[in-house]
Amino acid sequence: MGLPFPILHFPFPDPLIPQSFIQDLLNRVDIVGVVERYVPLKRAGANYVACCPFHGEKTPSFTVSPTKQFYHCFGCGAHGTAIGFMIEYAGVGFIDAVKDLAQSVGMQVPEVKSERPRGKTEEGDDLYAVLLKAAQYYRQQLKNASRAIEYLKKRGLSGDIAKQFGIGYALDGWQNLQAVFPDYNAKALVAAGLVIQGDEGKRYDRFRDRIMFPIVDQRGHIIGFGGRVLDQGEPKYLNSPETALFEKGRELYGLYQGRRAIRDAGRVIVVEGYMDVVALAQSGIGYAVATLGTATTPTHVQKLLHQAEEIVFCFDGDNAGRRAAWRALENSLEQLVDGKQLSFLFLPQGEDPDTYVRKLGKDEFEKLLGGAKPLSQFLLDELKSRVDLDTHEGRARLLQEARPFVVQIRAKFLGKMIRQNLAQIAGISTQDLDREYGVQKSKPANSAPPRLASAAVRTPARKVIELLMLRPNLCSLVDRKDLVAARGAPKIKQEEIALLDALLEVFNESATTKIGEYFRGGNLENLVREIEATLLGRPEASFQDDEIKEQFLHEWDNLIVAINEGPRELRRKILQEKQNLSPEEQSEYRALLQPQRTGIAK
Ligand code: GTP
Ligand code: MN
Repeated sequence: MGLPFPILHFPFPDPLIPQSFIQDLLNRVDIVGVVERYVPLKRAGANYVACCPFHGEKTPSFTVSPTKQFYHCFGCGAHGTAIGFMIEYAGVGFIDAVKDLAQSVGMQVPEVKSERPRGKTEEGDDLYAVLLKAAQYYRQQLKNASRAIEYLKKRGLSGDIAKQFGIGYALDGWQNLQAVFPDYNAKALVAAGLVIQGDEGKRYDRFRDRIMFPIVDQRGHIIGFGGRVLDQGEPKYLNSPETALFEKGRELYGLYQGRRAIRDAGRVIVVEGYMDVVALAQSGIGYAVATLGTATTPTHVQKLLHQAEEIVFCFDGDNAGRRAAWRALENSLEQLVDGKQLSFLFLPQGEDPDTYVRKLGKDEFEKLLGGAKPLSQFLLDELKSRVDLDTHEGRARLLQEARPFVVQIRAKFLGKMIRQNLAQIAGISTQDLDREYGVQKSKPANSAPPRLASAAVRTPARKVIELLMLRPNLCSLVDRKDLVAARGAPKIKQEEIALLDALLEVFNESATTKIGEYFRGGNLENLVREIEATLLGRPEASFQDDEIKEQFLHEWDNLIVAINEGPRELRRKILQEKQNLSPEEQSEYRALLQPQRTGIAK
């Protein structure tokens, strides 16, 4: 059956795994058990709670609903199904999350044949396996390479740390990898970024005579390498190219190894170099990660904010370091969340985290981290330094320059305080600034955790949706066709109608559908998450079925009235202005003046 609202689409999470299988799976898996594998839960009324594993906190705002089978954190807004939890918490991909859960309940994931799984070449070689084999080979080679061992020792690395990071050595020579890959012509070697295909068809190893740093994804799979020359030479670092497995803007060196330390410290340091991460770990600071020769991306920041309360960007004090810091700031603004802290530590000229932590030692270095400049201050200081604050013109320019940065901040309180600060500097009122910046007063910030919408702002459609989500069986009481008139109707939120329509369709098929997965990746996903979250706090959840039913029919009536209000209003105006009404028109007009009643609900 086609939807009357083709303006929106509902892509399935992955066409390779049928939605019906995903729904079966979610009906068999219990999210409470899944979460409890990783996070101890406490019962609290109808739900379970815990301190949120996605952000640091001391009082629990992470809630798991056994009846609705989703989790929600009132602190950071994390939200999802059992599958979503596996993806977010265990850092696995969608397919792996489904496979893992299916296995736990003895279900067999339908074979996905149409497309190659990630990491498989067309010849069927597994790139993960290829990279792992290469890494083992490089590590093996390091054992006999006295020159490389000397180099690492000179840089102060212990054998333990080298082992922890899987550091190896690629011998000098053009085709050393042939030793472990007898089929040196396999496509997989090029696809994995280990071998370069020269112009005349000649192949050779990408990494030669280099210290090898394996780059590991969040699941512990090797996805690439960084290779450093031992002495002088260009380029100093050679990284794997981007491959099917390795995307620089997503990955962070050291994140896997530092996971534990990051959680324990509630903090993560972002540095620029491989050696900085390794040296910090060697000095007892295990919670550092490095970008891979790229600027810090929003994805990086988002990933890190899932794991830590505090991010400290630690860059060199030179111009390049300040530029890198500013880029990191720009890419963090949208990700800011109230309650989390981002700050910047600039090291003295000529120092990097590697050299500096060796000079200062762990404790002194950590003291410095504690005094790092908060992002808000870095932002304001930097912007202020660009203008002349002694003149009206300069202060006006400050407001103008600050605008594109400030409007990106969705963290409500932090954004407010920064705007207040700016207004104060410029000598205008915060209201004036907010208005000029187009910051709406009542509109909740996007990233703020969804709160119970107050009755005043909940539309009839919204109320119907909420009740339907609480009791999907109610779908059989109403007719989707009545929603058709809502298309383009004034004052009707099209997104809500589209969601309601989709819910009616879905629940008519099966009232046990877990919509969290059904809408994954679609335009309505955010709305679904937001409404689901508000349900946790709604008193109706514990109401009797017939009370809910009555309320549902009542709200549905209101909705249909609201939908038809537009055309009625128009017709009333037309008749009102018309001169000589026929008898039929007169009675129609009288009817239009009466409050509308529908009696639509069956
Ligand atoms: P060390 O000299 O070993 O201490 O290096 P570092 O860790 O201090 O690195 P540096 O500050 O010179 O560079 C930081 C990061 O930028 C490195 O870890 C690499 O990821 C990257 N990088 C540095 N030099 C090069 C280069 O020549 N080519 C590429 N592609 N990346 C580089
Ligand atoms: Mn260095």
